[in-house]
Amino acid sequence: MSAHFSRIAGTGSYLPKQRLTNQDLVDMLAKNGLETSDEWIKTRSGIEARHFADKTELTSDLAVYAAKAALDAAKISANDLDLIILATSTPDHLGGFPSTACVVQDKLGAKPGSAAFDVQAVCAGFSYALSIADAFIRAGNFRKVMVIGAEVFSRILDFQDRGTCVLFGDGAGAVILEASDEPGILSIALHADGSQRDILCVPGRATQGGIEGNGFLTMDGQAVFKLAVKVLEQVAHEALEKAGMKPEQLDWLIPHQANIRIMESTARKMGMSMDKVIVTVAEHGNTSAASIPLALDVGIRSGKIQRQQHLLLEGVGGGFAWGAAVIRY
Ligand code: UT7
Repeated sequence: MSAHFSRIAGTGSYLPKQRLTNQDLVDMLAKNGLETSDEWIKTRSGIEARHFADKTELTSDLAVYAAKAALDAAKISANDLDLIILATSTPDHLGGFPSTACVVQDKLGAKPGSAAFDVQAVCAGFSYALSIADAFIRAGNFRKVMVIGAEVFSRILDFQDRGTCVLFGDGAGAVILEASDEPGILSIALHADGSQRDILCVPGRATQGGIEGNGFLTMDGQAVFKLAVKVLEQVAHEALEKAGMKPEQLDWLIPHQANIRIMESTARKMGMSMDKVIVTVAEHGNTSAASIPLALDVGIRSGKIQRQQHLLLEGVGGGFAWGAAVIRY
């Protein structure tokens, strides 16, 4: 039986138990002699809290929780999966070796021999992973694919750098795509500009069993902000054009959850009211590759996002890499 499209069969997500408010970060940074405030974090980013994994929790553990919830929602078992694609910049193992997707396959009890690999496109990772899954399904190679975004950014945050450590959190989101006669993923647009790789990166390198250079996340916030606003507008219009749609036909915008001001700017430029934007940044912070599938799952489980509605997903981040997808849910 041939099927020409891929559609979302189910979603799931997971946030680690440990929830830190802005005030918790104020207290934590004070111990390092750094000043910040709930007011600064909230007004500059929209973030009010974030979740951090405990020392024993790995990216794969967060991913497995999200994956199980997605399997339940899709009413299938791990054994039905043909492929697991996991987007992360904080893999379980140094260099992502072995891939966290392989660890998840094992922990989930998915059938050995099914395919599994990681995708590295930082905060655009989920958009990239989703497009790969869609292409595999359309080509007839696989019928059921789990796409996961999972991160433990708390492990690469420098708590001596107040400009970054207050912005990120940990979490995981998962989506099951399956072959379908009805279109689900309507269009995809992906881009990258490696010349901008230094404005958001972990500069260090693995060497001789250790790390050479700075192993923490570094960011030129203003440069990232400006570029993000510009490319997100472009890629949103590109994905809509490819789908043959206009912004007013969209039911929901599900942007990467980095900064409420960036989301407001994108919505304004697309003529969409903030009522049509799924916003989770206040509670999640920036969870990089996990942020879009987390927001998608929250939107679906809250009852906001309904079957047959049209969604625009868009992500941007380190690389510099960005992407968008138009989806009929
Ligand atoms: O996931 C990938 C995508 N990432 C993003 O989209 C992030 C994009 N960038 C941003 O969201 C914003 O640039 C930030 C939220 C990171 C920063 O907001 P901003 O309005 O660009 O602030 P700024 O970097 O220009 O800093 C303004 C001031 C500075 O002080 P001076 O130089 O004006 O005296 C900073 O030193 O705020 C200071 N500052 C802080 N103050 C209190 C920086 N971090 C903090 C802090 N608490 N945590």
